[in-house]
Amino acid sequence: MSAIQQLGHITLEQAVHDLGSVNPDLAGIYSPQYEDKEVQRYIHKQFLDDAAHYASNYQNNDYWLHLMQGLAQQLPWQADSELEVLDIGSGAGNTLFALFQSYPQSHIIASDLSVPLLNILKQHYQQHHSQHHCTALQLNAEAFIFAPEQFDLIVGGAILHHLYHPEKTLAQSYKALKPEGYAAFFEPFEMGYQTLSLILRQLWEMNKQSHFGKIERPIIQLFKRLYKELSLRSNQDKSARIFQKMDDKWLFSRPYFEEIGKDLGFESVHCYSLHSTETIFADQINTWLRLQFGKDLSHLPRWARQHIQMMDKHYSASVRAELFTEGGVLFKKAANKL
Ligand SMILES: C[S@@+](CC[C@H](N)C(=O)[O-])C[C@H]1O[C@@H](n2cnc3c(N)ncnc32)[C@H](O)[C@@H]1O
Repeated sequence: MSAIQQLGHITLEQAVHDLGSVNPDLAGIYSPQYEDKEVQRYIHKQFLDDAAHYASNYQNNDYWLHLMQGLAQQLPWQADSELEVLDIGSGAGNTLFALFQSYPQSHIIASDLSVPLLNILKQHYQQHHSQHHCTALQLNAEAFIFAPEQFDLIVGGAILHHLYHPEKTLAQSYKALKPEGYAAFFEPFEMGYQTLSLILRQLWEMNKQSHFGKIERPIIQLFKRLYKELSLRSNQDKSARIFQKMDDKWLFSRPYFEEIGKDLGFESVHCYSLHSTETIFADQINTWLRLQFGKDLSHLPRWARQHIQMMDKHYSASVRAELFTEGGVLFKKAANKL
């Protein structure tokens, strides 16, 4: 099987192979060829055997278009720029297809550890976006294989919180960026999610006393599970065995990114809220109910909906802007010193 050390304009430090030589269905997906064991240490059933279900459940073009447009407004490039872009943890392509809209002339490497998800991405790309330039690469986000200073822009949509060591990905992003390049990530933040987890706890405590209708038992069980998972995710040490089974490992904070960015030498780090509505908590609980049960907030008793609404209204607009559950973080690499 022939190995190559160049993907388009990008130089690699480690050779990759076209998986088409192993399975013709996978032609056009490149890989350094990981052992199954290594892949399974990082990702589980939902991203592997259940990839098709995951991709259809989480496809959300409008949301990602909105995020990429918001990002492009903060970047210095015109829409017709021919950028070298790396998308980390592309999954089935939400971030990739939105990036095509913002920078249609760019060359994008869509990378993920999951070959089944990359295959769904590849098929959608070939059917609907083949006028754009994209290469699919199986890549562990904690172990880059790129030569230094290859990319203008690195984007990761909901990837860092799945990793054991996101700081490794940030360090390697710094190295792989050209001077004056940017790295942008969209991730869950502790401030908003831990407030939300307290609301879930209040709801199940209030439910015990309620004489005005009860929350359905499976929903209470979901709230309890989420509360437990969210508590674990705030902790920065991910060496406990339980994290080997948890796809979602982290909730981040502004100081976490600011300190790492400063230590790595980034010129600036900017964290910002991704919420466009005033109903942060109601929106997220609604999303959980939809993903888990195909239900919405109307399935909660009135007192529970009123409590969530009260919490959403409790904070002023300026505090809400700090209280994000989902946030963007934008790192800028400095120009070379003359
Ligand atoms: C929440 S999904 C996000 C997918 C896509 N960016 C989107 O927004 O739809 C997270 C993705 O990260 C990938 N992933 C998890 N751990 C990884 C790792 N160590 N290296 C590369 N990809 C990983 C998963 O396979 C999955 O596709």
